[in-house]
Amino acid sequence: MVTYIDAATAPLKNTGAIRLYDAEAFEGMRRACQLTARCLDALVPMVKPGVTTAAIDRFVFEFGADHGALPATLNYRGYKYSVCTSINHVVCHGMPDDKPLRDGDIVNIDVTFLLGGWHGDSSRMYPVGQIKRAAERLMEVTYECLMRGIGAVRPGARTGAIGEAIQTYAEAERCSVVRDFCGHGVGRLFHDSPNILHYGKADEGPEMREGMIFTIEPMINLGKPHVKVLSDGWTAVTRDRSLTAQYEHTVGVTATGCEIFTLSPAGLDRPGLG
Ligand code: MF3
Ligand code: CO
Ligand code: CO
Repeated sequence: MVTYIDAATAPLKNTGAIRLYDAEAFEGMRRACQLTARCLDALVPMVKPGVTTAAIDRFVFEFGADHGALPATLNYRGYKYSVCTSINHVVCHGMPDDKPLRDGDIVNIDVTFLLGGWHGDSSRMYPVGQIKRAAERLMEVTYECLMRGIGAVRPGARTGAIGEAIQTYAEAERCSVVRDFCGHGVGRLFHDSPNILHYGKADEGPEMREGMIFTIEPMINLGKPHVKVLSDGWTAVTRDRSLTAQYEHTVGVTATGCEIFTLSPAGLDRPGLG
């Protein structure tokens, strides 16, 4: 049985209940999410062959500090970085290091800023130099998956409608949907109920209601959907080492659909694609 609670008065722990946020919360989320979007915008000219993911990590930390925000991933469940940088066959939770990005890589950069008590969670794919057509196509398909998922958000529909929209399109494009990670409620908590699956059927999952806030963040593979986590405990890779991509937005459910809090103010939601 799914329960909905007033986010303004409910205790700050994930009990499985779904929080419904008021206008003031939406304003707080807009601010946190727009800072995250501006940081992802600022990274566009920086992501080039030769730059290290450690330099990207420092940039994100400093960008947050300059704007009164903390990266929510820093010291989150033992994670030690301000950002996740997931390259080529890395599905998610790639850890920044001193290796330079190479011409032809594709990298997902996932930033979550905590600003004024609210979490803004978003990620984009960045091409590094000149990439292969297959990589470009995977990024296009994955971005379209995200937007089709967002298009299924409206009060009265179930969260499974998001998953169905994503899975149907991904598989029609001969790609596969990662099952091991999902979107999530977000707000004053980084990871909250409900889980947002990127596969499934429209009659599954809880009903969406006005005031819900969650992420949609499909991970789409060129090969099989299966992933494994490396011995570092974080880095998730495709088992078949096939190329993978991900985009993420934070959205709030409105009376008629949803508001995308993390849209790029510069129109750079899909760097390197038209
Ligand atoms: N930002 C990721 C998400 O979209 C979570 C990263 S948690 C970390 O939910 F610890 F790996 F950083
Ligand atoms: Co997320
Ligand atoms: Co994220």
